[in-house]
Amino acid sequence: MIPRSNHGSRSRNGSPMRPAFPGTASYRPDNISITDDLHPVIHAGRVALITGAASGIGRAAALEFAKLGLKVAIADVNEEKLQGVGKALAATIGEANVLVVPTNVSKLEEVIRLRDRVYEQWGEVAVLMNNAGIGDKGTSWDGIENWRKVFDVNLFGIINVQQTFVPSMLHQENPAIVINTGSKQGITNPPGNAAYNASKAAVKSLTEGLAHELRERPNSDVTAHLFIPGWTFTGLTGSDSKAEKPAGAWTPEETVLYMLDKVREGEFYILVPDNETKREVDQLRIMWAAADIAEGRPALSRWHPNYKALYEEYMREGMAQLE
Ligand SMILES: NC(=O)c1ccc[n+]([C@@H]2O[C@H](COP(=O)([O-])OP(=O)(O)OC[C@H]3O[C@@H](n4cnc5c(N)ncnc54)[C@H](O)[C@@H]3O)[C@@H](O)[C@H]2O)c1
Repeated sequence: MIPRSNHGSRSRNGSPMRPAFPGTASYRPDNISITDDLHPVIHAGRVALITGAASGIGRAAALEFAKLGLKVAIADVNEEKLQGVGKALAATIGEANVLVVPTNVSKLEEVIRLRDRVYEQWGEVAVLMNNAGIGDKGTSWDGIENWRKVFDVNLFGIINVQQTFVPSMLHQENPAIVINTGSKQGITNPPGNAAYNASKAAVKSLTEGLAHELRERPNSDVTAHLFIPGWTFTGLTGSDSKAEKPAGAWTPEETVLYMLDKVREGEFYILVPDNETKREVDQLRIMWAAADIAEGRPALSRWHPNYKALYEEYMREGMAQLE
């Protein structure tokens, strides 16, 4: 049994600087709260499973877990890219510690096959990262096929994986975590892609429910986390077609390092900044969105012309107080 002495604590003991990712990452958790040899889950020898691992954030997470010495299982619909990530992982941790399972998370039978492969091979999942996602556009009266596609992947993909894996994870001897990838768009609901926003709002809701159910379960050693990336330069945001990362976006590596730091601290809401949006700005935007309901303002008043001046004043004053 791995000790869980510091899990969830917020001690900030001096720990060595994490190895830098090659590339352009500028976020460095330079003083991580819990070193990996003490963390019971993000720990060498344990098993991470990442969906949507062929690209972007999922790929970066798989590579980071491998660097930390975890065994890594990766799943994605894009088989060709997934095999490429598998090779990169094998170069870091050796082929025996990598499992590449092409999987469409929106198909329950493929998710069941994925679980069977991972448990046959390694007998556990310590980190379940529900990350596969798409951004096909659906507006309020247009794009019904995209609405179905987006919900099949972003929502039912997570439901399929959660329902298939969590019962097995609950019976493991050692602690485990579930990280579901949501979005700020599922919280503040900016106009533009109602289908994506609604799917991510559902992910927030189901992950909050999961966290509560796990917490209430006697002797539960599984926790849930809602990962809310900032603007990250990935396939979803144009990295396949544009060579240059926009200055405002973070690299997938930065986003993943930030996420891992917060998981180590035991945070549930992992609200990730980027080079354009500070955490304080997100906090104020989220509070404004909640106040639409509490104060009876029109829907999405942040984008309502009659509320423009009030919103701007609120942000100015809020930032002045927080800084
Ligand atoms: N990039 C951002 O700025 C940003 C911001 C907020 C949230 N997110 C979320 O982060 C997650 C990762 O996205 P990303 O930005 O790295 O994009 P990405 O396109 O680079 O990666 C997503 C991966 O999911 C895979 N995928 C799609 N449908 C699948 C399916 N049915 N089964 C299995 N795999 C499937 C894709 O093939 C791809 O490899 C998504 O859930 C996305 O909504 C991204």
